[in-house]
Amino acid sequence: MSFKTLDQLPATGKRVLVRVDLNVPMENGHVTDGTRLDRILPTLRDITGKGGKVILLAHFGRPKGETFEERANPAESLKPVADELARRLGQPIAFAANCIGEVAEKAVAAMQNGDVLCLENTRFHKAEEKNGEAFITALAKLGDAYVNDAFSAAHRAHASTEGLARVLPAYAGRTMEAELNALHAALGQPKRPVMAIVGGAKVSTKLDLLGNLVSRVDCLVIGGGMANTFLAARGVNVGKSLCEHDLAGTAREIEKKAKAAGCEIVLPTDGLLSKEFRANPPHRAASVNDVAADEMILDAGPASAKAIAAKLASMKTLVWNGPLGAFELAPFDTATVAVAKEAAALTTKGSLVSVAGGGDTVAALNHAGVADDMTYISTAGGAFLEWMEGKELPGVKALGQVGRDTKQ
Ligand code: 3PG
Ligand code: MG
Repeated sequence: MSFKTLDQLPATGKRVLVRVDLNVPMENGHVTDGTRLDRILPTLRDITGKGGKVILLAHFGRPKGETFEERANPAESLKPVADELARRLGQPIAFAANCIGEVAEKAVAAMQNGDVLCLENTRFHKAEEKNGEAFITALAKLGDAYVNDAFSAAHRAHASTEGLARVLPAYAGRTMEAELNALHAALGQPKRPVMAIVGGAKVSTKLDLLGNLVSRVDCLVIGGGMANTFLAARGVNVGKSLCEHDLAGTAREIEKKAKAAGCEIVLPTDGLLSKEFRANPPHRAASVNDVAADEMILDAGPASAKAIAAKLASMKTLVWNGPLGAFELAPFDTATVAVAKEAAALTTKGSLVSVAGGGDTVAALNHAGVADDMTYISTAGGAFLEWMEGKELPGVKALGQVGRDTKQ
């Protein structure tokens, strides 16, 4: 992979525009999960440590409207996030209430070497999302170099994620670098055999992903509500389970494509069944061929979890997106936790490279208490999915990366 890293950036005395992902969950003005903030600290310290000036660019939420006035909703200001980041960094972070124009220019002019400044939400300008040239120029004016440390926003071709990389000397930040290396190890040139675990509620949201994976991995485990659609397509009666019956034909197509590519598809053979979708309802473990009309499959069953764990032991690489059951409701977290623990143990032992990411996956692995034992956990949601779909991410492409290897 060819992109420049911070090792090549002569940062001393330079104004460095650093695109980060500050789109963190907040409640009542407080950050409820600061994982993304902690991930960018190495990049900030690297640049300030060399005497560079760090100017943070980021979006928050999805502001609506045409003008700055319409879009500048105080509830979507980056100020409280910048304050929390400063606390974690252990250094004050100045704030400018606009990411371009006089306010921003003055704030940048006031910086000393080693300072950090956060500019207000880039999406307060509609031109950010339009990747508009005048807006890119106004941003570029503020910096001598551009660093992108926001893999999780790299699926957007926006001014601060893509446009700037074309007009300023561009570098990957430490988190971007680690992310790209981990993803390359997982699907670019993985050690084989490779298993993918894909879970989640709906097949319809992951069609491209499944289609790409069957031609790249040796074993594809399908879990969660999605598995029911595949089971139903095989003629299994899934009762009241979440199931997209209209996608039976699509599921069969994916199975056919997998077979042709030599990819084994693994579906649950048993499940935890209940009549109620809530925590700790009456439930039973049974074969997927034994689901009553008023029952739902809410988790992969004990035999399936055991079989997946056993198969995992013969794998060299695992890429995981989406839980195997309704993990937020006990006891339907059981299969996800069991397989996560096995993945963590194999990774710790050194026999498995394990990369996980996307939405619920990080929460599920945190819940299983094994997040620190996996090889790499991505904080990206949509970007991780698009990467698993085999798509080129504009923010990565603009850094000059030659790209992951195409089909092996
Ligand atoms: C995210 O939170 O997944 C990223 O920051 C991207 O946000 P977006 O989906 O609003 O572009
Ligand atoms: Mg998102």
